[in-house]
Amino acid sequence: MAMTSEPIHFSDGASYDRFMGVWSRLAGQEFLDWIAPDHGQRWLDVGCGNGAFTQLIAEQSDPVALVGIDPSDAQLAYAQKHPLLQSVEFVNADAMALPFAAAAFDLAVMPLVIFFVPEPAQAVAEMVRVVAPGGTVAAYAWDLEGGGFPYQSVNDTLGAVGRAIPMPPSPESSRLEALRELWVTAGLGDIHTRVITVERTYGDFDDFWTTVRGGPSAGQALAVMGEQDVSRFRELLRARLQPAGSGSITLAGRAHAIRGTVRGR
Ligand SMILES: C[S@@+](CC[C@H](N)C(=O)[O-])C[C@H]1O[C@@H](n2cnc3c(N)ncnc32)[C@H](O)[C@@H]1O
Repeated sequence: MAMTSEPIHFSDGASYDRFMGVWSRLAGQEFLDWIAPDHGQRWLDVGCGNGAFTQLIAEQSDPVALVGIDPSDAQLAYAQKHPLLQSVEFVNADAMALPFAAAAFDLAVMPLVIFFVPEPAQAVAEMVRVVAPGGTVAAYAWDLEGGGFPYQSVNDTLGAVGRAIPMPPSPESSRLEALRELWVTAGLGDIHTRVITVERTYGDFDDFWTTVRGGPSAGQALAVMGEQDVSRFRELLRARLQPAGSGSITLAGRAHAIRGTVRGR
């Protein structure tokens, strides 16, 4: 039985970008295309992190207002520096207690966040509260329990060497049925779901390794391991990913997405 780990910390926006931001933009593009929002809307990006998805909204959806909230100052500081995000309002806040008036937005999105929220139902209720009737509440999340996390191979290798596998507090919320139940319970109508699958290629194993070591999640687990254990882990991971030797590494990520409409009230 795998041990559980320390909470996952988001303490560096740049290393997050290399580790997850690239994946986030790949899957986020599919998610945004699927939501197919009208231009000129008021957007709330819940758990905006370092602004990877916020950037897609700003570039492609012509928002009249765009607010991003996240509890990590390091992520927000990185987002605030982005040239395209200078007119975005970033607020340090928690998804479970959004500091906004009812019906203040036309859309609230939660990209790759719901499994980090200790009480996902509270966060969905908050998104419904701050979105006006007829507006959209949408989220997507890696299928953590079904092996859809892009770094599943790293987690499997951690498990193989008896190390704790980094997990967010609510991994079960990424199941499609769990998302559907959350959206139904929150009173949303016109609910749709889909699976998003994306691929990313790392130039070689060193590129992959540097990305993993610098990021949150497994990077935290590796940071507390001794040098010998890290070397052993590295070789096991390489053997798992590149049994035939050097060359680029292409991995897939699979996510579940959901969207619904706020009913009149
Ligand atoms: C995997 S990142 C996703 C960031 C961004 N949405 C994206 O698509 O790249 C998860 C983010 O959720 C944030 N987070 C964790 N707990 C949260 C909470 N209770 N409320 C809001 N955001 C939270 C983290 O700080 C982190 O920035």
